[in-house]
Amino acid sequence: MKLFHVDASAKREWSNSRALSRHFIDLLKQQRPDVEVDYLDVSVDTPAHVDELFTIATYTPEADRTPAMKQALQASDALCARLLAADAYVFAMPMYNFSMPSSFKAFIDNIVRTNLTYKIGEDGSYVGQLADKVLFITTRGADLRPGTPFSAMDALTPALRAAFGFMGVAAPTFVDAQPLTFSAAEEREAALVRAKAELAAVAGEWAATR
Ligand SMILES: Cc1cc2nc3c(=O)[nH]c(=O)nc-3n(C[C@H](O)[C@H](O)[C@H](O)COP(=O)(O)O)c2cc1C
Repeated sequence: MKLFHVDASAKREWSNSRALSRHFIDLLKQQRPDVEVDYLDVSVDTPAHVDELFTIATYTPEADRTPAMKQALQASDALCARLLAADAYVFAMPMYNFSMPSSFKAFIDNIVRTNLTYKIGEDGSYVGQLADKVLFITTRGADLRPGTPFSAMDALTPALRAAFGFMGVAAPTFVDAQPLTFSAAEEREAALVRAKAELAAVAGEWAATR
């Protein structure tokens, strides 16, 4: 199994999302020694923001691109190739201001590419090209679970679902650890215990598949 693993927390050794993604991959590797990991830390290797040349180049048919356009798309092409070479994905990130870290948004802006991560069928339909095995691990300071007063402010889950749904990921798995900051210590502990139990279940499911 080729796994593409992306971390996005600005925090390093104190990061909960990093610790949880490492924990998941350890659990998976214990059951599947064939797991190969391609790792990207977007808080360090942050993909470039979309600039004007990129916007023109990305919608110019490949055969018509100038050398400058090709150059503008080079890093994005390479990221898409890494994604398309994988058959499973783990994306770990904290919630920042109700949505994703801007480094992960820059990553998304680099990987949603016509004729690479999605294709357009003859009938005009969009056909996503990513493998449908995606785990999002998110960490949140507050508790935004359904039924809580803050649940309507969760702009992270729908944004991830939309972007990856467009690239063919119909049923991603979410493990959301919350509340991890703005709560009593027992609630934080319980949130981590819940997240680890959910990760163990996902690792077991993934280990049992091809
Ligand atoms: C800049 C910033 C913005 C944040 N915004 C939110 C937020 O909107 N909602 C929330 O629940 N927690 C928010 N938090 C808290 C983090 O999501 C939380 O501490 C999380 O566990 C951090 O994950 P990490 O340890 O992997 O960095 C924010 C933290 C930072 C640093």
